[in-house]
Amino acid sequence: MKIFRTVKEYKKYFNTIQKNKIIGFVPTMGALHNGHLSLLKKSLQKCDITGISIFVNPLQFAPDDDIEQYPRQEKKDIKICEELDVDFAFIPKINEMYPEKILTMIVVSNLQDNLCGEKRKGHFNGVTTVVAKLFNIIQPNFAFFGLKDFQQYIIIKKMVKDLIFPIEIIGCEIIRERNGLAMSSRNRYLTKEEREIAPNINKALRFGIELIKEQKLTAGKIIENIRTKYLKEIKIDYLNIYDQDTLIPLEKDKIPSGKIAIAGAFFIGKARLIDNMRISL
Ligand code: PAF
Repeated sequence: MKIFRTVKEYKKYFNTIQKNKIIGFVPTMGALHNGHLSLLKKSLQKCDITGISIFVNPLQFAPDDDIEQYPRQEKKDIKICEELDVDFAFIPKINEMYPEKILTMIVVSNLQDNLCGEKRKGHFNGVTTVVAKLFNIIQPNFAFFGLKDFQQYIIIKKMVKDLIFPIEIIGCEIIRERNGLAMSSRNRYLTKEEREIAPNINKALRFGIELIKEQKLTAGKIIENIRTKYLKEIKIDYLNIYDQDTLIPLEKDKIPSGKIAIAGAFFIGKARLIDNMRISL
């Protein structure tokens, strides 16, 4: 696997790629788990060349987030990618991505008013800005994103559409542990006891989907029911039923219908975990 640390090194390689080759790209912040692996595998199946970026992007962390605490395991990540036969990894340092103070940001408005966007102000501006930069550097045909970060996926799709990036965004289904817990780099923060509680998040969402399918209860009642049944021990950052396209919460007194997602963020110990399930009725 080729490893590029600078834009210049990557560009030199990019210029050697035949024009008819399809490039698939998986942007990551490293600490790879099976969720990332499934994205890479999708790209390897679909594309002639598959690349990954590993970059912990300071722009998407709040000033009081401890970015230094974000898990890093570069050697292990490289080994994982080599074993999968990934063609290249772009692993820049902060100075390479942000050689000077950045004055230009990409802001996808409205779609960040709810869910994590509401709770982590400015987070998605950091995500879209770095992803746009990475797209300009890598120039892929396809880019693969996990649907665990459903809001991120919707926002990036909109950015690509609005700014006419010649890239197709592929959303890939959430990979879960056997107990239903969505795979996440943050799961490593969970203690043994917390690991016992964490699967309740997915149990709660699955129960929510069952209630939605029955078409008897309003959105408000469904959320109330799943909170009492599964989430008593878990601190909820947000939990609601949203329209999948606009990411606006459904009205509490309406019976959910259409293309909807039940999504939430939860604090368990040191970890903030997100999860969602989607359904079309
Ligand atoms: O999902 C992530 O890991 C990050 O938000 C991304 C897309 C790599 C941008 O830094």
